[in-house]
Amino acid sequence: MSRLKITVVGAGNVGATTAQRLAERDYADVVLVDIVEGLPQGKALDLNETGPVLGYEPNVIGTNGYEETAGSDVCVITSGIARKPGMSRDDLLTTNQKIVADVTQNLVSRSPDTILIVVTNPLDAMCQVAFAEAKLPRERVIGMAGVLDSARFRTFLAWELGVSVRDVTGFVLGGHGDQMVPVTSYTNVAGIPITDLIGQERLAEIVQRTRDGGAEVVKLLKSGSAYYAPSASVVEMVDSIVQDQKRVLPCAAYLTGEFGLNGIFMGVPCRLGAGGLEEIIKLNLTDHEQAQLNRSAEAVRELVGVMGL
Ligand code: APR
Repeated sequence: MSRLKITVVGAGNVGATTAQRLAERDYADVVLVDIVEGLPQGKALDLNETGPVLGYEPNVIGTNGYEETAGSDVCVITSGIARKPGMSRDDLLTTNQKIVADVTQNLVSRSPDTILIVVTNPLDAMCQVAFAEAKLPRERVIGMAGVLDSARFRTFLAWELGVSVRDVTGFVLGGHGDQMVPVTSYTNVAGIPITDLIGQERLAEIVQRTRDGGAEVVKLLKSGSAYYAPSASVVEMVDSIVQDQKRVLPCAAYLTGEFGLNGIFMGVPCRLGAGGLEEIIKLNLTDHEQAQLNRSAEAVRELVGVMGL
């Protein structure tokens, strides 16, 4: 039996860190692709030379082409330009649209059975680009955003309450933008509703910090955007797929009527397993949360409209 193959496109901060985390898991060969000559090769070599120290097989290939990606089980798309201070995720739209379309075409033509995980921003719009280009069923085109946004939410809640982050469950749904929807009615600490533990006003502040979570990192870094939490979030999704874990994770999925939304990608609770997106799990949102989700959907539709999709 041959090992799994996972391709990561984009050997920048998010892509290279994703490749590192995957190599350390040692369950797949990893192909790292970038347009910059030497960059994926150099990072792959460095990662391979880490294998003997950390105890994994040195099976990372760095390349500027796509031949080595053929037959990938999972492909992660991180290629594109990242945000600079003062830029919103939406400012990246047209440049990243071209990049994601081209990359998707190159990947899917060589790996028709692959599952695509899109990371490039603006996330929900880029999922739509990949979906249109790949012509794969929706089960096999999934976006990474909700795991990251929820991780930020959970971090802030754990700090606020002085409890372990492992006991904090929090869902952030909707688009990966300023309109994202941290769903407080489904957020709890070891089963205790968050609204029993934190007052409304303070909770609203934490929700806002979550919405601004990406920008807070961008502002501090000054060049580039977050990558440790994003890459860890990607790998949690990959783990669930390649190990058929059936994790229930918030991911961007193509909606066909769920939550009253149709024909767009939005962050919703997804069961991820060997088949990719195996189920979208329905929630009973409050009227306020549903209204927020609708607003978030409008923002995504606007971007999709600008791209002419
Ligand atoms: N094909 C392959 N790689 C490309 C292409 C392309 N057509 N265009 C750009 N790249 C590569 C760049 O050369 C760069 O190495 O994508 C990489 C992006 O890396 P960074 O600039 O470090 O950006 P990063 O922080 O990794 O973020 C990547 O993920 O979270 C999102 O908003 C973020 O859209 C951004 C993406």
